[in-house]
This record gives sequence, structure tokens and C-alpha cells, in this order.
Amino acid sequence: MPKIKLAPSILSADENNINKEIEQVAHYAKLIHVDIMDGIFVPQTTWTSDFVKTIKTKIPLDVHLMVQDPSDEYLKGFIDANAYSITVHQEACSDLQHTLEFIKKNNTKTCIALKPNTPLKKISEFIDQIDMVLIMTVEPGKAGQAFIPGPLKKAEELRKLKPNLDIEVDGGINKATINSCYKSGANVFVAGSAIFKQLDRIKAIKELLNNLK
Ligand code: DX5
Ligand code: ZN
Repeated sequence: MPKIKLAPSILSADENNINKEIEQVAHYAKLIHVDIMDGIFVPQTTWTSDFVKTIKTKIPLDVHLMVQDPSDEYLKGFIDANAYSITVHQEACSDLQHTLEFIKKNNTKTCIALKPNTPLKKISEFIDQIDMVLIMTVEPGKAGQAFIPGPLKKAEELRKLKPNLDIEVDGGINKATINSCYKSGANVFVAGSAIFKQLDRIKAIKELLNNLK
């Protein structure tokens, strides 16, 4: 099993003080999860790559694109904004092979996200060429939703196939749900409200990590 990584999602942070918000969690964050929504693949819109360029941190940026058919130019914007990894949705990409190759040739880690009802077999042909799989445990689109346990079966199946692959879970991760994800084989945990909506963020992070058993 690869290393445990906590990825606080800044969707629930104060975007007007984003660098201070990140600083508060920096000691425990292995990745900073950045949710990009386009108003097409999901109803809401969030940030452009120009906003991501204003993030000043040494922590790698884990950019989650909830975006319909991201073009090479659009992807390049996030690569130039210093993305460490770019996650694209299986359901959103009409030429996934091309998209993955483009990200990779720009020296950025590749990840495919699956909505709760998308089966693992949809990405079988890509699994050996990517760095991470993101298993969504809510419908993508907003923070603070209730955790859906069903998708964890995909984490279990994938962990058996790929003992060393990073498997990320995102949506409704909190101190009550995080351990079921870990036991299913996930090792990268995104948490938005469970960290940034809490008054004491460090206490909240410790509670999350203490529940991994
Ligand atoms: C939802 C986003 C998540 C979101 C999670 O579509 O992909 O990353 O920030 O928020 P919580 O942790 O509050 O469910
Ligand atoms: Zn996300």
C-alpha cells in the first residue's frame, strides 16, 4: 500500500485568503486539492488557472477538473499554474488517451476520476499508464454532501489489481467515513468541509488521521 496522503480541498476555504488558509494546514497536507468546475460538466463554476497561479505553496497542487472536454490549451493553463497532478473525469473526456498523453508529456502526473456510478471497467485500458485514480464518493459538483459508500467496492477491486497505485477518495470524507475508505484500499484522502469548515483545523486534521486504523 502506498503512503497515506491527506489532501485538504480548498473549495471549503476562504478564497480571499487562500495562501493563509493553506499555510494553516501545511504541516499535515501532502497535497492541496483544487476543485475546478466549469458550469457544464457540473452546474457550478469555480476558478480559472489564473486563480491557481496566485496560490503560493510548496505543497503539490492536486488539480481536479470537473470540466467537459478540457482542451490542450485549457490543460496547459493549469500546467503553467504549477499543477503537480491533473485529474480528468472519464465521463467528461471524448479522447481520454490524448488528454492523458498531453498531461504526461508536460511532466505532470495523471489521474482519472470516476463518478459514483461509473464502473471501474471504463478505465481498464488506462490503468497501467496513470499515476492515480480518483474514486468519487459523492456526485461531483459541491462540498458538504453526504458520503456514498457504494463506490468503495471500486477501491477494493483496484487495490487488488494495483498494490502500489495511488487511490484517492473525494466527497463526504470525515472522521466517521475516512477509515472505511482506508480499509477499502484508498490511500489519498480529500477533505473539504471536514477541515476548512472547522474552527480548529489542526484538531480536525488530527481527528481524521487518528481514525485511520
Ligand atoms: C466535490 C469536490 C470535492 C469537495 C469535497 O465535487 O470534488 O473535492 O471539495 O468536499 P467535502 O469534503 O466537503 O465533501
Ligand atoms: Zn475534488
